Amino acid sequence: MKYLISPAFFLVLVLAVTAQDKFNPYQYSISKHFTGANGAVVAAHPLASQVGVMILRKGGNAVDAAIATQLALAVVYPGAGNIGGGGFMVIHLSGGKDLTLDFREKAPLKGSRDMYLDANGNADLNKSQHGHLAAGVPGAVAGIFKAMPYARLPFKQLIQPAIDLAAKGFVITGAEAADLNDDRELFVKNNTRPTAFVKDIPWKAGDTLVQKELAETLIRIRDQGKKGFYEGKTARLIVAEMDRGKGMISLEDLKKYDAVWRDASVFEYKGHRVVTMPLPSSGGVLLPMMMKMTARFPIDSFGFHTPKSVQLMTEIERLAYADRAKFLGDPDFYAVPVKTLLSDDYITSRLRLYQPDTAGDSRRIASGDVTKESEETTHLSVADKEGNAVSLTTTLNGGYGSHTVVGGAGFLLNNEMDDFSVKPGVPNMYGAVGGEANAIAPGKRMLSSMTPVIVLRSGKPVYVTGTPGGTTITTSLYQTLLNLIDFKLSALDAVNQPKFHMQWLPDTLYVEKEFPEALKATMERMGYKVNSRGHIGRTELIVIDNGKIEAVGDFRGDDTAAGY
Ligand code: GLY
Repeated sequence: MKYLISPAFFLVLVLAVTAQDKFNPYQYSISKHFTGANGAVVAAHPLASQVGVMILRKGGNAVDAAIATQLALAVVYPGAGNIGGGGFMVIHLSGGKDLTLDFREKAPLKGSRDMYLDANGNADLNKSQHGHLAAGVPGAVAGIFKAMPYARLPFKQLIQPAIDLAAKGFVITGAEAADLNDDRELFVKNNTRPTAFVKDIPWKAGDTLVQKELAETLIRIRDQGKKGFYEGKTARLIVAEMDRGKGMISLEDLKKYDAVWRDASVFEYKGHRVVTMPLPSSGGVLLPMMMKMTARFPIDSFGFHTPKSVQLMTEIERLAYADRAKFLGDPDFYAVPVKTLLSDDYITSRLRLYQPDTAGDSRRIASGDVTKESEETTHLSVADKEGNAVSLTTTLNGGYGSHTVVGGAGFLLNNEMDDFSVKPGVPNMYGAVGGEANAIAPGKRMLSSMTPVIVLRSGKPVYVTGTPGGTTITTSLYQTLLNLIDFKLSALDAVNQPKFHMQWLPDTLYVEKEFPEALKATMERMGYKVNSRGHIGRTELIVIDNGKIEAVGDFRGDDTAAGY
């Protein structure tokens, strides 16, 4: 398959990242493709990828590198990297063990089902999306310490690059400058103290971003461990910020928060074992549903981006997403019928609704609900030379989360509360609706789409992948995996070829602008409402084949593949 992304684009971007023991935060470049044998890291920012590789070179394993990369992202990629948000981590250990870690945020203990309803019972989406009340109890730092027993290097070594990047600063990319400028008003509006993200004149590429207060918070975490965030000075600063902005997170919320190991969602697909995050990741149910449906068809013979394969995949996405918000929520609070949803009989019954060669009709498919989420999240993939792999997705929810920075502590709080159904049965921020399963309750985790994936063949990792993108996360990964397994695309094409997305409601097939025009026209003739949209996801992929490690950073952002 010919590589279809503009060669000019690549000439600009394919400047190799030299994986050294030191890196230069004032001069770096973006690299989209790495091949080697020792280890690789793919993340949303070149400096974060370089930090991960530096840790691998120092003898760290994939877990060490993932933790260091995640912490670096919290500094160099503040739109989604975070210590004030949450996420999921899937680990494959070279001994054969698979682990899935849930460090998703929780609703504060003072939270309640109707907390975003006004006196007339209408949902106030401004409060669930912006400012102090939008924040769930952060899970990222608890997740890091839960994973530490599987790391090898001392924590001090893993966090130091992030501390240095925050204290001494780094130069920002053009994309980061544009994002900070776009959100200036939101920062001004949602903060009670000055923040490092606002300055008097617009940001531009090459400006240095210094985050002194964040550096001090990271130092407290370095020196005091988990307590450096959830107790003591940082916790007091969070609660003081809540008091100033009428938020709800309390000292008790912080002290009680812990990350949890969950039983992985594991399924077989054409000789591959797919390991991913279970609930509260909706992907742990939707991805197996979609791939189990797909396995009933000879889709490889339909071909990549043919009307036949795109129509089938679109209808499968529709069928799976119709069940999403009706049935899925935090399993600690709601009895989700996962076994039934993934059973052969249920898959058969859903496929009875499938009609080839014509657009389906979401009104006819089911009466379930679906929640559309904001798309700003970030993913990192790591593989080391020992056969360990980590797939980690983390988020603040929207870009820069709630836009509220904790005064004196320098980090952004998430706006993850909007991932709940703020009023079950009523459209949320993007005009979609959510179900009872995902209603707010104190201490409950909001449903997520984050779907970090590790695919094994004969017990060894072959693909380590994931992406941001809200509800498009699971459909992006579904397509990436089919691109690799069924359509035999190269790693570069599997990531970079145009993606499409159907989520049942709205009854629209979304395609990236680069999606082939002729194919779009054919889909329209079949009866689909097709909308072109901006980029879908930023998929980070590592392919491991007989000791060869190939890493691809998505062309859609500053994403960088690095290794040694
Ligand atoms: N907030 C994005 C997600 O968890 O799916």
